[in-house]
Amino acid sequence: MSREFTKVGVVGLGTMGAGIVEVFARNAIDVLAVEVDERALERGKGFLTASLDRAVSRGKMAQDDADTLRGHVTFTTDLADCADCQLVVEAVPEHLDLKKRILSTLDGIVGSDAILATNTSSLPVTEIAVATADPKRVVGMHFFNPAPVLQFVEVIKTVITADDVFEDIKALAERLGKKPVVVGDRAGFIANALLFGYLNHAVSMFESKYATREDLDAAMRFGCGYPMGPLALLDLIGLDTAYEILDTMYKQGRDRLHAPSPIIKQMVSAGLTGRKSGHGFYTYA
Ligand code: CAA
Repeated sequence: MSREFTKVGVVGLGTMGAGIVEVFARNAIDVLAVEVDERALERGKGFLTASLDRAVSRGKMAQDDADTLRGHVTFTTDLADCADCQLVVEAVPEHLDLKKRILSTLDGIVGSDAILATNTSSLPVTEIAVATADPKRVVGMHFFNPAPVLQFVEVIKTVITADDVFEDIKALAERLGKKPVVVGDRAGFIANALLFGYLNHAVSMFESKYATREDLDAAMRFGCGYPMGPLALLDLIGLDTAYEILDTMYKQGRDRLHAPSPIIKQMVSAGLTGRKSGHGFYTYA
């Protein structure tokens, strides 16, 4: 029998985590939204509020529905509150040790039938899984940014993931209105393995002053029909996240395509992380 998911946890309420919380709550699933401290919790609440306010102001959602959605979300700074969650998805920054620590802690908190999922974009799910006492119940559940909008979800099955675990997660993704695919544990899975070489190449063209940011983005929007150009997309993803993904993919494959263009790290050091900080390749109000 497949699992019922009536209460799930999301750990980490950055751009991705807050979006994932919204996806669950939009589908009437109770969500425990967990952050490390009050400050981070407030920031995560802010992301959710901004997204709902935007939907209401555009007439896409009634205020009552936004309130109902919000009623499905409980905020906490205590991981132990996840004890009765049937699934916990971690969406903390892309640092392997941090993810391993969180999943191994959760492993001692949730019930024996619960699933632990990581939203990692590029780190090895197998290594995260084996940090727990029960790696069979660990799976990748990789959403795309903005999570409430984009339909694709990669379900990452390691050599040790139990069949019922990835099948239940795939069925859950379908219930959330997504189009899941099951993939193996390879750096970047499918989408990021294809995407990040292209993004990195665009940055190197910008860095070498071969083309302006506007022309690079216009080429891909108007010449290829992409919804946004590569530099605008990097601002959306976050330069810090993009750097971590490229660096992981480079270290795993040692291919020049993914060696992060130097300016990415420099921009991260300078706080120019993209939309979330108000400054990246572009400036945001
Ligand atoms: N949260 C919730 N909803 C959002 C949103 C957000 N952050 N951003 C946009 N939307 C919604 C809008 O409300 C709007 O909804 P309606 O159609 O119901 O009105 C819809 O999305 C379209 O938004 P806009 O009209 O404002 O702008 P747009 O048409 O240019 O679309 C976009 C914006 C959806 C971001 C689109 O440009 C797009 O799809 N860009 C490409 C994004 C992409 O490639 N993402 C993948 C990144 S890689 C990744 O995520 C993997 C990883 O591991 C890092």
